[in-house]
Amino acid sequence: MTHSPHDAHALHGVGVVVVAAGSGSRLGADRPKAFVRLDGETILEHALVRALAAGAARVVLVVPAELVEEAQGFLDLHAGCGCGDPVVVPGGAERGDSVAAGLAVLGEDIDVVLVHDAARCLTPAVVYERVVAAVRAGAAGAVPGLPVVDTIKIVDDDGVITATPARSTLRAVQTPQGFQLGLLREAHASGRQATDDAALVEQLGHDVVVVEGDPLGFKITDQEDLRRARSLLAQDGR
Ligand code: C5P
Repeated sequence: MTHSPHDAHALHGVGVVVVAAGSGSRLGADRPKAFVRLDGETILEHALVRALAAGAARVVLVVPAELVEEAQGFLDLHAGCGCGDPVVVPGGAERGDSVAAGLAVLGEDIDVVLVHDAARCLTPAVVYERVVAAVRAGAAGAVPGLPVVDTIKIVDDDGVITATPARSTLRAVQTPQGFQLGLLREAHASGRQATDDAALVEQLGHDVVVVEGDPLGFKITDQEDLRRARSLLAQDGR
């Protein structure tokens, strides 16, 4: 699949850090999740072509150290559009370490960063645009989210329900998550770990807003998700 940005300056000053250094043990594959094939291409390649198509000024792939060379090969295959100034760096033990490794190679020309899970590789370009628009409009951070359909319970260690938040106030959030680059660097410098980047920026006391997500932004976690992604690609070659 080839993608070319509809507007090469669509995401001027925006860097995308695609984190792909997790083991993906819940998928039960024989290699790290991002290197599992969906069709002719791996999860990471699908994430890469969409990040390039969104028109970012720089795309950073963060992968397991032993797979840097293989990921570099993906750039040779897919970065023919001359856009996105892509680069590959090795990740770390925790997701936060991998994000920090990606932030470290963003240059002075970048002022907004999007952190994206490679595992959400079918996220359409319009979601990148919504997130960037909210940050450019002045938000410290912006994350795509969808209303939840289930009622969510908070439980204690014994499984006893301690609270039932009103469903209308809940959102299931996705990536790419966008931030003013300086703020996200500050948040990561605290050394705290969280399951998403927004949580770190929220802890600094800044407002992070939710913009409309997309069902295609689902995270490939288990075999069922893998089947869903393969079937979507087979249906219409997204
Ligand atoms: O484990 P989880 O599904 O939350 O991981 C989300 C994303 O973070 C995945 O794309 C994974 O490859 C990445 N990750 C990483 N480095 C780690 C752990 C996770 O880049 N050490």
